[in-house]
Amino acid sequence: METKIDEIAEGIYRLSTYVPDIAPPVGFTFNQFLVIGDEPLMFHTGPRKMFALNRDALARIIPPERLRWIGFGHFESDECGAMNEWLSVAPQATAAHGQTGVYVSLNDFADRAPRVLKDGEVIDIGGGKRVRFIDTPHTPHGWDAGVMYEESTGTLLCGDLFTQLGNDRALTDGDVVGPAIAAEDLFKYSALNPGMGTTIRELAKLAPRTLALMHGPSFSGDGAAALRALADDYDRRVSAQMTKAMQRLAA
Ligand SMILES: [Fe+2]
Ligand SMILES: [Fe+2]
Repeated sequence: METKIDEIAEGIYRLSTYVPDIAPPVGFTFNQFLVIGDEPLMFHTGPRKMFALNRDALARIIPPERLRWIGFGHFESDECGAMNEWLSVAPQATAAHGQTGVYVSLNDFADRAPRVLKDGEVIDIGGGKRVRFIDTPHTPHGWDAGVMYEESTGTLLCGDLFTQLGNDRALTDGDVVGPAIAAEDLFKYSALNPGMGTTIRELAKLAPRTLALMHGPSFSGDGAAALRALADDYDRRVSAQMTKAMQRLAA
């Protein structure tokens, strides 16, 4: 396996590792995002077993010990499995996550004290980069789920939202909604909940210019339209499930 590096927005690097054995024959990507500032932030740590790959890739951009912030979407192995390895190589680094994730998991799991981020709280990492944490509970999954938004580039670090198969390209202006619907059909990875469409439509209000997908290419274009279309599809799924539940109750 190798980890490819691409700059997907100004000062935001995608570190992408392709795993052909997951969902063959098209395979699956695991992407980390490094946001460059005076205090560099990485969104997702990658799985623990990919740590060496990701550390060597990051070292082609900055010395790993310069890393200051570790963010991620929710407590799960590919999102934060290598957290303690990163904390070990980067003595100034701090994991930063929402209140639920810190109190439920990180206070126990992280080898150094994490920073709690309130919904909407911004970390100013310097160099003009400001990274906002936004709670998205259970969306797409995880009680502690959240996303990060880099304000200066309009980049939504959207974690597992828009997950898709394959290893198309680093950055696309093509359709990211259809492939996400196909992946949801296959993996059923989302915790369908009635608030899901509303949660995703709130993200659309940010009008992001770039969507940084954890699994798939990054998207450049009308992020709001893509988010609204994804929200519509989840509303459709939730509505279908609720109709079935109502029919069972009525039977
Ligand atoms: Fe996940
Ligand atoms: Fe993921």
